[in-house]
Amino acid sequence: MPEPDPDTSRGANGAAPAEPSYKALTRHLPEPRFVPLPGYTRLDEAQMLARAEAFYRTMERRRTTRHFATDPVPRRLIELAILTAGTAPSGAHRQPWRFVAIDDAGLKAKIRAAAEEEELKTYSERMTDEWREALHPLGTDHVKEHLTDAPWLVVLFAEKFGLRPDGSHRKNYYVDESVGIAAGLFVAAIQMMGLVTLTHTPNPMGFLRDLLGRGTNEKAVLVMPVGYPRPDAKVPDLQRLPLEAIVQWNA
Ligand SMILES: Cc1cc2nc3c(=O)[nH]c(=O)nc-3n(C[C@H](O)[C@H](O)[C@H](O)COP(=O)(O)O)c2cc1C
Repeated sequence: MPEPDPDTSRGANGAAPAEPSYKALTRHLPEPRFVPLPGYTRLDEAQMLARAEAFYRTMERRRTTRHFATDPVPRRLIELAILTAGTAPSGAHRQPWRFVAIDDAGLKAKIRAAAEEEELKTYSERMTDEWREALHPLGTDHVKEHLTDAPWLVVLFAEKFGLRPDGSHRKNYYVDESVGIAAGLFVAAIQMMGLVTLTHTPNPMGFLRDLLGRGTNEKAVLVMPVGYPRPDAKVPDLQRLPLEAIVQWNA
């Protein structure tokens, strides 16, 4: 049994308060185990400020890049980006992300062909006028040369629910939020190591599960080409919202 919290173990009249009724519902489960917070060092404010500024300056230079050089990138860098993504917090620690890293030219060509087939239909038939107008400043179309030019494609799948060995389903929690945070950490890791990426969402993405042999409990979320920018790479002229437009301090 865990030690009662000394601050709350006695009521105002000194009597031991009743245990909340929900506690009884988990009495059959093993006691949770705790370890001291690992590797935490408190920094002084000047150090924190310097690190925060440096990180922001690095991230501020990040741009979605659609023009990739074909130069190879070591596999270890991709492993480190995926490991970094895998440090994301997740609902009930379900870690509902799976990454498929592809450097096989034949497989990249298949992905590109399937993506372009879907994207051609999307751009010409499925897109609403509003959607087409929103994308217009980005100058994108159905041609996705980054899918074969980039040395790596990293496809992020969300595990919608887990599968137990007997085939029964194990619920995952806050899958979209958790996978979104993991994607953000992946993008940040790529930026920190001096490479570029693109969070590509070919529409629809069902073909990725089939081509990559993933289970029906997984859903493809992003295709992220990773590599160096082509020397002539260009990006749309976009501005980011200023701080005052994205923050409110207190009510
Ligand atoms: C969820 C998501 C989906 C996206 N899908 C695509 C896509 O399919 N194709 C593409 O070229 N860019 C895609 N983007 C990239 C955005 O267009 C880009 O992030 C945005 O224009 C801002 O540019 P920046 O990333 O350079 O700041 C996507 C971004 C996000 C977050």
